[in-house]
Amino acid sequence: MKALILIGGEGTRLRPLTMDTLKCMAPIANRNFIEYQIALLKKYGINDIVLSVCYMPEKVKEIVGNGKKYGVRISYTAEKLPLGTAGAIKNAEKLLDETTIVMNGDILTDIKLDEMLECHISKNADATIALHEAADPSAYGLVITDAQGMITRFLEKPKESEITSKWINAGIYIFSRKVIDMIPSGLNVSLERQTFPLVIDTKMRLAAFKSSQYWLDIGKIEKYMQANFDVLQGRFESLFGDEIADTGIKTGHGSIIDDRAVLSSPVIIGKKCRVAAEARIERSIIWDNVKIGEGAVITNSIIGNGCVVEQGCVIINTVAGAGSVFTRFTRSGTK
Ligand code: GDD
Ligand code: MG
Repeated sequence: MKALILIGGEGTRLRPLTMDTLKCMAPIANRNFIEYQIALLKKYGINDIVLSVCYMPEKVKEIVGNGKKYGVRISYTAEKLPLGTAGAIKNAEKLLDETTIVMNGDILTDIKLDEMLECHISKNADATIALHEAADPSAYGLVITDAQGMITRFLEKPKESEITSKWINAGIYIFSRKVIDMIPSGLNVSLERQTFPLVIDTKMRLAAFKSSQYWLDIGKIEKYMQANFDVLQGRFESLFGDEIADTGIKTGHGSIIDDRAVLSSPVIIGKKCRVAAEARIERSIIWDNVKIGEGAVITNSIIGNGCVVEQGCVIINTVAGAGSVFTRFTRSGTK
């Protein structure tokens, strides 16, 4: 069986971090996010993975390549203009199997894909959607099921008055060819707003797989931060074996941290960074090649690749895009 990962979104809610990179390339505990999805698929024996790219395809290809370094085969489909979540699946159809797993490219999860496939088969479904129970479904796709666990309604980004369930679309699907066949070609089509309602209206079998495993959409700044700290602190089942740091502090290769710098957990520092004496970093994520000067303070912030924080700067609750330079006179805020 093959898998398709949708990574064609612009990642606007993660800006400025995604101004020069893709959401799926954002580091989680010093590993590109997409590696977690590849590792999950590989764990369940899915070694043929198609990436549906739109923006910055060269970034992904440069880093992920043909997948050999992860022990999988990666192929690509590209869109000149975004085709939407269903249009992207249609665009990849020639590369897909009779039954295909499709994943949103921003979900950190250790969902049990074998159990999901069993559910899909035992319910004789045309498509199966994994569901996650969310305290507030308003930012997601709301899913209503019947007593047999079949989906009777799908409502993307519901209004408060429409929320009658806590179960949301987890962005992980199993599709039979029959469903992909019904998506029109060459058009921008939304899986959530068009295809799923049509599948339900035409009485195709849309099954629900309710999962209680770890699940997080990393697509917003606070969730991205949470994903990093959850992985670092072992709240997410390890996929690689080296991502958890007992100290709650992780430092990438080639970084030099002065002995007199103070790091207060949770802190993740990427590769080739420099942290000078008396600098204080707490509850923050520092990407690669960042220079932090003497006595600088960074609290509850994310600092993008190649940023410079000059000595004595105080940075609080800030998200800094790649290459930002902070001098003593810079105010905190999104940069
Ligand atoms: N190839 C391609 N083309 N991919 C796309 C396109 C497109 O036009 N549009 C979005 N994607 C990809 C994004 O890169 C992302 O990985 C995934 O599709 C979902 O898009 P988001 O923009 O992250 O959607 P969302 O988080 O608001 O909502 C979706 O995910 C929720 C779960 O996190 C929906 O599927 C909801 O129903 C769901 O609950
Ligand atoms: Mg998302």
